[in-house]
Amino acid sequence: MTGAPTYRIRPAACFDLFTPLYDLGCSVLGYGRGFKGWVAAHGRVAPGDRVLDVGAGTGVLDRVLLDAPAAPTTLALDPDRRALRIARAKAPRPLVGVAARGEALPFADRTFDRVFSTLALHHVPDRWRGGVLREIRRVLRPDGRFVCADFENHRRRWVPRRFASERTLEEWIADAGYRIEERAWRRGVHLFVLSLPPPVRGVDR
Ligand SMILES: C[S@@+](CC[C@H](N)C(=O)[O-])C[C@H]1O[C@@H](n2cnc3c(N)ncnc32)[C@H](O)[C@@H]1O
Repeated sequence: MTGAPTYRIRPAACFDLFTPLYDLGCSVLGYGRGFKGWVAAHGRVAPGDRVLDVGAGTGVLDRVLLDAPAAPTTLALDPDRRALRIARAKAPRPLVGVAARGEALPFADRTFDRVFSTLALHHVPDRWRGGVLREIRRVLRPDGRFVCADFENHRRRWVPRRFASERTLEEWIADAGYRIEERAWRRGVHLFVLSLPPPVRGVDR
C-alpha cells in the first residue's frame, strides 16, 4: 500500500486522557510486567543486541528488557508522544523514544537484532497492517528475530469493529514472508517468534 498513512492513531488505553492509567489497567487485566516478561523471554535477547519495540506504548516491555543485568540498546517506537514520555520517564536505563508509525520505520535496512511488537498490531487498520509487518522485516537483520504477540482479532462477533481484521494474525505474518520458529499462547494472546527465510540467490529480500 502506498501513500502516507493518515488514519487517526488509537492510543494505548483508547483515549489520550487514560494513557497515564494504561500500566495499571495492564496489570489488573494480566498484561503487566509478568506477561511482558513472558514475551521478552521469547526474544532470547543477548547483551549488545539492538532491540526495537514497535507500538511500545508506555514501555512496560522495555522496562523488563532494560532491567536485565546486561541490558540491550532499546528503542521504543510509537506514534503517541505522550505514551513515549511515560515510557522514558519510567525506564530504569536510558530508553530511546521514537515518535513514528510502524508502517514507516525511520531506520536503515537490517538495523535490529530483535524486534518486538506486543498488543499493537490490532490498533493498525487492515489497510496498513501488512505494511507494518513488511517494515519490520526490512529493518531486521538476516539472523534477527521478531517476536509478535497480539490478540487474534480476525473479524468475529465479539471483536470490536475498530480492531477487527479481515485476516488472522497468522495470515498477515505469512503474507509478509516470515518463517514461524515458535508459537505460544497466554491470556488470549498469540505469540509468534519469527525469522527471515534464507535469501534466494540473486533475489533481494
Ligand atoms: C495497546 S497499546 C500496546 C502497548 C505496549 N506494546 C503493550 O503491550 O503494553 C497499542 C499501542 O500501539 C500504538 N500504535 C497505534 N497505531 C500504531 C502504528 N501505526 N504504529 C505503531 N504503533 C501504533 C498505540 O499508540 C499504542 O501505544
